[in-house]
Amino acid sequence: MEVHIKETYEQMSIDAARKVADVLNTKPNAVLGLATGSTPQGMYQELVRLHREEGLDFSQVTTFNLDEYVGVPPSHPQSYHYFMHENLFKHINVPPQNVYVPSGTTDNYAAFCAWYEQRIDDCGGIDLQVLGIGSDGHIAFNEPGSSLGSRTRLKTLAKQTIDDNARFFENREDVPIYSITMGVGTILEAEEIILLINGENKAEAAKHAIEGAVCSQYTASALQMHPEVTAYLDTAAAGKLEMTEYYNWIQKMKPGAPRL
Ligand code: F6R
Repeated sequence: MEVHIKETYEQMSIDAARKVADVLNTKPNAVLGLATGSTPQGMYQELVRLHREEGLDFSQVTTFNLDEYVGVPPSHPQSYHYFMHENLFKHINVPPQNVYVPSGTTDNYAAFCAWYEQRIDDCGGIDLQVLGIGSDGHIAFNEPGSSLGSRTRLKTLAKQTIDDNARFFENREDVPIYSITMGVGTILEAEEIILLINGENKAEAAKHAIEGAVCSQYTASALQMHPEVTAYLDTAAAGKLEMTEYYNWIQKMKPGAPRL
């Protein structure tokens, strides 16, 4: 895993957006896997700026979101459909028919999950997957104990995630208990992955994900098995990493490395 540590959230968000832009400039019809939550908001803002001011084109892009709350319709302000529309889709030129977000209101979850996996395959697989991380080390809603080979499915949220996400709802009781989420196995099939981590409250999870043992108790640690992962952290999130000097050394030396 390549680790980039930046002073601020703004800087890490700009770097992450640049990575997405590089993929789109190389492959204009790329398939992006997208995350919601507080973490990628800065990156989405920068992508919107790149679209408006530098012509970054999404007209051939396809997107698949990681997850959605069960029982929450797309029109609900806390649905991930709504989040994506407000934070990204309505500001860029991605064709609406190319946008996929798991359904939280289907009457057949098993069939929907199988269909979602099939759609990803039919679109050629995900070229670049964007991830945040939960304070319990989850990626998407693959909570502690999730199989590292799991596929898109219905998943019960951990109490810690319900507590963490209560900040978006009026009452803790309003936070949905179930989600529909891509599996760890689904995520690991992406060609390339970027993992965004910011804030002191994510420092422990970051340590397990980047430097801990690969285990289902911190599903983000499974990313260590993937050959093309770049983690973007701010210094607060990197606070518990032991190899920071080494990661910074690698980044400093990279420009001088012999070309392959
Ligand atoms: C959201 C998702 C989750 C979040 C994680 C962190 O689509 O997949 O794994 O990335 O819960 O959420 P924030 O960024 O709000 O701290």
